[in-house]
Amino acid sequence: MGFPEGFTWGVAAASYQVEGGAYEDGKGLSVWDTFCRRPGAVWQGHTGDVACDHYHRYREDVALMKELGVRAYRLSISWPRVLPDGTGRVNPKGLGFYERLVDELRGAGIEPWVTLFHWDYPEALFRRGGWLNPESPEWFAGYARVMTEALSDRVTHWMTLNEPQVFIELGHRTGAHAPGIRLTMGEVLQASHNVMLAHGKAVQEIRAASRSESRVGFAPAAGPAMPATEGEADVAAARAALFAVNQPTAFNHAWWMDPVLLGSYPEDGLEFFGDDVPRVAEGDMETICQPLDFFGANIYNGYRVRAGEDGRPEAVPLPVGYPMTTQGDWPITPECLYWGPRFYYERYGVPIVITENGHQNPDFVMLDGEVHDPQRIDYLHRHLLELGRAVEDGVDVRGYLQWTFMDNFEWAYGYRIRVGLVYTDFPTQRRVPKDSAYWYRDVIASNGAALSFE
Ligand code: GCO
Repeated sequence: MGFPEGFTWGVAAASYQVEGGAYEDGKGLSVWDTFCRRPGAVWQGHTGDVACDHYHRYREDVALMKELGVRAYRLSISWPRVLPDGTGRVNPKGLGFYERLVDELRGAGIEPWVTLFHWDYPEALFRRGGWLNPESPEWFAGYARVMTEALSDRVTHWMTLNEPQVFIELGHRTGAHAPGIRLTMGEVLQASHNVMLAHGKAVQEIRAASRSESRVGFAPAAGPAMPATEGEADVAAARAALFAVNQPTAFNHAWWMDPVLLGSYPEDGLEFFGDDVPRVAEGDMETICQPLDFFGANIYNGYRVRAGEDGRPEAVPLPVGYPMTTQGDWPITPECLYWGPRFYYERYGVPIVITENGHQNPDFVMLDGEVHDPQRIDYLHRHLLELGRAVEDGVDVRGYLQWTFMDNFEWAYGYRIRVGLVYTDFPTQRRVPKDSAYWYRDVIASNGAALSFE
């Protein structure tokens, strides 16, 4: 059976990671522009000042996407490039860049999928309290309206937030990411509530102002628990582990997914967090829980769980020497792209789009001038076979947006970690398609048939 007709094969990236032009044409500061200048914050002091210079080279990049037969490109908008102060005045040159990029994509027959927020928060709004400020949902809603009015005649697929668990946990609790602060758990959960209100209000703005039929989703981090065996007890244990709220962090998936998709905080979470739970005003949960057209899932790996003696979930440690990505030390667990879509589809009943999946690898240009990346091909092949199995088992999967088109700024790792299908030679900005780019081209052209479904 394989993948359905019309399945969306694409690639993904994000504004701060590829654009550069960090101080150009009236763009306002983002918290990442500031954070990168904090000594020790980013590997070797790398910044996104230039990145892949996509701000100037987007035509060349779109032409390469077209050559690879990419059907969709998931890009994000730099909020402070368009609204330098985060609210109020629009920067016409900033908005103009995204209008040109969207037109270039559509001219190449590539569907733009737009993420409104992929971590580059306006510094000006951070200085006004950021996500802790009760006005922050309105700030985001106003930005969403500006982008909808500007692009919704040409953009039909929107995601409000990328991985809220990550930008709250790493940016606001551990401080490992921008803006690099360490809030208390109560503050973290109040900020999280404001983020979810912002999501809901943005969806309302898109629905109200869209000048074409818009499909709206969000793109949470979604690495799933996976059963150690396909036996009923282990499957039940993995499902229970995946949706449990029992970690003193922002990484409990259901704490985010249930309000957004079911309209209520999970009971176990309310009990677990106790006095730290946020103030929920009348109507908040209805605002947060707006109908969505797809569940965007960023999945790179999962963690194995079995049913213990009493049936309770038990983590299953990986054996010594288990295959890992060589840079981020992420385990290679292809079945994450079967169990994640299956469990999320079962619980939320919304079509699934894989909005991120990819492989970190120490790529380099070899003696023959090419970049051979068999590990990435093997990783993608295995994961797509598992995604195809989920489709065959009845999960409504609509698309796969591979992370990422070209090597780019990998947050606190700077440019040390390469995840692209295309090699970026940063000193010269030369792009070198890796073997995996051509492999993925054939997968797209065959709608997945090139993958050997056993
Ligand atoms: C994330 C971010 C991406 C990363 C990707 C590769 O999922 O953390 O959305 O920006 O670059 O995951 O590590």
